[in-house]
Amino acid sequence: MRHMEQGLVWVLWLEPMSPLEFSRDISMTDKTQDRYTLVAIVLHWLIALVLISAIAVAWQFDDAKGLAKFQLFQLHKSLGITVLVLSLARLGWRLINPAPAALASLKPWEKVLSKAVHVGFYVIMLGMPLTGWLVVSASPKNIPTLLYGIIDLPYLPFVHGLAQEQAHNLQELFEEVHEAMGKVTYALIVLHVGAALKHQFIDRDSVLSRMVPFLKKA
Ligand code: HEM
Ligand code: HEM
Repeated sequence: MRHMEQGLVWVLWLEPMSPLEFSRDISMTDKTQDRYTLVAIVLHWLIALVLISAIAVAWQFDDAKGLAKFQLFQLHKSLGITVLVLSLARLGWRLINPAPAALASLKPWEKVLSKAVHVGFYVIMLGMPLTGWLVVSASPKNIPTLLYGIIDLPYLPFVHGLAQEQAHNLQELFEEVHEAMGKVTYALIVLHVGAALKHQFIDRDSVLSRMVPFLKKA
């Protein structure tokens, strides 16, 4: 609140404070910025929920047939594109509101590994939807995608409408990358959730509570 008032005073004085500086000023919870902003927290948990749902739906593909299978694919693609949109929003927000510094109590290897996992997640959060989108765009079957039954997803340019054989080869290539990235996603989730639980129950520090505002510090 104090920052909001401070920001308003700046605006009233017509001091040269850019909208970027102003939004950074009101979004920080305190000067030390020792936790994530509410926007970052909401986006984090939304992305986690939708990404895990996209995986859960993909796991049903093999058992389904006919219309049910088609609908599962449509739902999977809708959830996946939602992850892409939310992740772009998260990245944009992060540019204006950098993530808080790692806890000083972390060991050097923990800082390096957590950074690597976070960067890896961003590659996945953008790369999984993009490679999936490339699969459907390259596919010679030209199956349409209607996101949540409402929004028509266009095909990506350059890979769409190629000659049959080239289209088929490209589709297979993108499928392999999508599948391999899926395996990387499983590994990152195990490392990330394992680390969160270790910090909460073994180290008993504030790592998890920075991302879960109502959680009491362990
Ligand atoms: C698959 C779903 C998930 C994805 C893609 C994901 C992604 C991320 C990313 C990219 C960050 C870095 C912060 C940022 O800049 O946004 C982060 C931080 C964090 N995540 Fe997740 N996350 C997922 C699930 C979870 C789950 C299930 C938990 C808890 C059990 C969790 C706990 C945390 C915590 C505590 C942080 C803060 C770490 C720190 O500040 O050092 N995440 N997550
Ligand atoms: C966060 C986003 C996404 C995640 C985590 C994800 C995950 C997965 C997984 C785990 C599979 C099963 C792969 C296997 O056979 O082992 C799969 C398959 C598939 N996904 Fe996604 N996906 C995402 C986004 C998308 C998007 C946006 C599209 C299309 C617009 C898409 C299209 C497909 C297709 C066509 C398949 C079946 C082909 C294949 O086996 O690779 N996915 N996805």
